[in-house]
Amino acid sequence: MKGIVLAGGLGTRLFPLTKITNKHLLPIYEKPMIYYPIETLINAGITDIMIVIGGNHAGDFLRLIGNGKEFGLKHINYTYQEGEGGIAAALSLAEYFADGEPICVVLGDNIIEKNIIKAVNDFKKQKKGAKIMLKEVPDPERFGVAEIVNGKLIGIEEKPKKPKSNLAVIGIYMYDERVFDIIKTLKPSARGELEITDVNNFYVKEGTMTWEMLKGWWTDAGTFESLLRANILVAQTGANNID
Ligand code: DAU
Repeated sequence: MKGIVLAGGLGTRLFPLTKITNKHLLPIYEKPMIYYPIETLINAGITDIMIVIGGNHAGDFLRLIGNGKEFGLKHINYTYQEGEGGIAAALSLAEYFADGEPICVVLGDNIIEKNIIKAVNDFKKQKKGAKIMLKEVPDPERFGVAEIVNGKLIGIEEKPKKPKSNLAVIGIYMYDERVFDIIKTLKPSARGELEITDVNNFYVKEGTMTWEMLKGWWTDAGTFESLLRANILVAQTGANNID
């Protein structure tokens, strides 16, 4: 299984912080934001990793991460997303890297307290399809929201005004090799992006999407409030804890 960290986009919600640096290089307590999703993959035993970078400060990622030595890696792969065409558009750039293998995708601004080893191992046993992870949140309207009836995932709505549950779809996704063909069929949403929620709903409709609840806290860090929360949570408990 290969790992992909998506760190494209322009981080406009964090202006002016992101005017002179990339959102994913901003500090979360003692480390740059991008360290956390990379560690999430490594902790789950995934060491063949590509980072999709973007924006105006792409060179800084190379200066910071280099060939991944600091993470105990022998090598790390990069590709570059122009503009911000959406999460699915960023993922499509990793098709050549994935080379027909299943993948685990982590959004570059998502941070978790614990680890995803169990979910990754479960997905390895799954013959086809995809897996998402869910977390109860007080503000579901900010996220992709799962509708679950009698334990069955019915569908996902992206940032609904009236959420059908308090279960956010967190930014960690596992896909079989067909994901890149599915992305090619997508049309841009009202916000002009190729939505990862549309990819996920393809698998839901097909009946091949599984889901697990995430243990421990989860946060994104793409708004001023969540950036502050991420810093506080990491300072209190640390992130990517093995147990
Ligand atoms: O954090 C989880 C949420 O992330 C999910 O619940 C939503 O379903 C999903 O759409 C996404 O929502 P956001 O609107 O908050 O995503 P955002 O635009 O902030 O992008 C999150 C990360 O994805 C960003 O840090 C880098 C990557 N990204 C995003 C865009 C728009 C890219 O690599 N390229 C892009 O063009």
